[in-house]
Amino acid sequence: MTDATTARVTYNPYDYQVHEDPYPTYELLRRTCPVFRNDEFDFWALSRYGDVLGAFRNPGQFSSRFGVSLDPVAYGPHAHKSMSFLALDPPAHTHMRALVSRAFTPKRINLLEDHIRKLTRDYLEGILDGGQFDFVVDFAGRLPMDVISELIGVPGEDRDEVRRLADLLVHRQEDVFDVPPQGIEAGLILAGYFAELISDHQANPRDDLTSGLLGAELDGKMLSVDEIISFLVLMVVAGNETTTKLLANAWYWAWKFPDERAKVMEDPNLIPDWVEETVRFDTSTQTLARVTNDDCTIAGVLVPRNSRVLLLVGSANRDEDVFEGACEYRVTRDNSKLLSFGNGRHFCMGASLARLEAKIALEELLGRVVDYEVDEGRMKRVHSINVRGFARLPTSVTLKGSRLTLGD
Ligand code: HEM
Repeated sequence: MTDATTARVTYNPYDYQVHEDPYPTYELLRRTCPVFRNDEFDFWALSRYGDVLGAFRNPGQFSSRFGVSLDPVAYGPHAHKSMSFLALDPPAHTHMRALVSRAFTPKRINLLEDHIRKLTRDYLEGILDGGQFDFVVDFAGRLPMDVISELIGVPGEDRDEVRRLADLLVHRQEDVFDVPPQGIEAGLILAGYFAELISDHQANPRDDLTSGLLGAELDGKMLSVDEIISFLVLMVVAGNETTTKLLANAWYWAWKFPDERAKVMEDPNLIPDWVEETVRFDTSTQTLARVTNDDCTIAGVLVPRNSRVLLLVGSANRDEDVFEGACEYRVTRDNSKLLSFGNGRHFCMGASLARLEAKIALEELLGRVVDYEVDEGRMKRVHSINVRGFARLPTSVTLKGSRLTLGD
């Protein structure tokens, strides 16, 4: 039996060293203290694959009703007002997700393919010729919000402002363990903007997600305007930053593992595998909170009712019991069991969009680039308790047809 109170390992999701590299801590947690208690921030943490999967599959015991982030502003009974059905349990979750699914369909996502490719090409056109650019600031930090804007029908002239607000909403300041005031304000302005967008769509219906949500009906019930607003805000929070991080993580890890990079450069059919291995090896969404509805015993440790439990998804994906050689980045491994997009009722609604976007962006890059370098000295990580990835990733590229080689 593991004793959560006597184990010496410690884990603090706000610690910058953990943000730099959480994986040694995760490994220690899995091995010595899989049900970890942090008294300072009042939460438990599950690090083993089986326990994280078990919690995903048992929403009756591990409830989402207080949201998925421990940040004080985001956490609590009001969480669903900004996080929509991500912070609801069945049956309310089931009903709202089913209604949204009427509009958020695979067909609508697939229709975005040409648009994503055009956006990617336009961005790359402007940055590749210079040979050096910031992968996040100039590219990966921009594309996902443009795609979401296209999906929900934000007019072209509003997109820069919507992206600015979305960036403020998800940005975390160093040493502030909560959503900063600018983030809260940006969230409110964005909600106001979406209210206007919805009323415009009510007057002039279009063929986009917002009109689809307004028309969605199930058992005679429809989504209210407030529900649509909170879902649109959720899209910005859940779909924007995560995809940015995925793109830059793929670029970085393939650079760190040149043999793996050579494989995808040689065979672009491996790009979807590159994407999957990136989300397993170093997933954008590292942690998700739950609250227990009853006392429960996990790996021999009693976790009382009403406890905050953090599911360490990033750790579950590195569990050797499920992924052999888990700490090695291997693009061709079997990743069918990864937990990066969750599991069960809250399984990520945007997983196929994130995969499509990443595939197209990396295809377009490899179509033009022979090889690249990353400037590790100048790269910068974001500091967040949920999301892992880069705020800055300076890179230099050698383009196909160029006679220059890297380092010239
Ligand atoms: C690499 C990119 C992404 C990652 C790693 C990711 C991860 C996740 C995870 C782990 C969950 C489950 C949360 C839980 O169980 O509490 C989730 C839910 C969700 N995601 Fe994603 N996501 C990504 C991209 C997207 C995109 C592009 C969108 C939409 C545009 C999106 C929309 C959603 C929504 C709406 C939910 C809530 C589902 C529910 O509660 O039923 N995600 N995502």
